[in-house]
Amino acid sequence: MRIDEILYTQGFGTRRVCAGLVQQGLVRTAGAVVADPAAEFETEGLRFTVQGTEWEYHEKAYLLLHKPAGTECSQKPSTYPSIYTLLPSPLRLRPNKGAVQGVQAIGRLDQDTTGLLLLTDDGQFIHRMGSPKHHVPKVYEVGTKHAIDDTQVARLLAGVVLDDDPRPVRAAACEAVAPQHLRLTLTEGKYHQVKRMLAAVGNRVESLHRSRIGPLALPEDLAPGQWRWLEPAQVEALRTARASQPENRLSR
Ligand code: URA
Repeated sequence: MRIDEILYTQGFGTRRVCAGLVQQGLVRTAGAVVADPAAEFETEGLRFTVQGTEWEYHEKAYLLLHKPAGTECSQKPSTYPSIYTLLPSPLRLRPNKGAVQGVQAIGRLDQDTTGLLLLTDDGQFIHRMGSPKHHVPKVYEVGTKHAIDDTQVARLLAGVVLDDDPRPVRAAACEAVAPQHLRLTLTEGKYHQVKRMLAAVGNRVESLHRSRIGPLALPEDLAPGQWRWLEPAQVEALRTARASQPENRLSR
């Protein structure tokens, strides 16, 4: 693929801007300036720098973000900064045929919730991960206001009724790891689900952190606000998570 086209697909600007970046000598591969916008490169594994920013070619972008507290998952946040401001601009500007440009979060976390968030520009992947048929288990570390008792755990596992749906929602797994620390696994993603489930059993969420989505755990060395590309094997494991995650069988 031509280098100016490569830059365009990766979100470095319009085709004209990308050709200009090359002509101005701002693009390098393997340490050498690429001067000709028409120069062809094999895209697989290609690394380059644009104005000193290192980049690796990805046909589709799949990434994970350690969402910090005090950020909103919306492109147009109402009160707190958007999580999208934590990403470099090429990820926000990647062209996407016929769809919204840039990567999109797969589902949302509340502004005060921290932890693992996936983002991609692959519309099919967003659809698949969000589909009711694809109940990927999500693990939450929940800090509670009151001590958790066995009755609360039993009720969360048996199912509680939330105000907008007569069908009970239940935790696929639920374990009190400390008096005020619950590890809760859900296979659905209703609005404020964890907070509403805890309220329904007479407790209250004081802190909420998502530590895992299916086979993918939040890496311990990824600080709040940092992001990372997913490896192809991790994307594949998420795609096929349903078959390999026994908790899914507990969902209705
Ligand atoms: N449940 C909630 O209540 N909030 C979140 O952010 C995620 C799950």
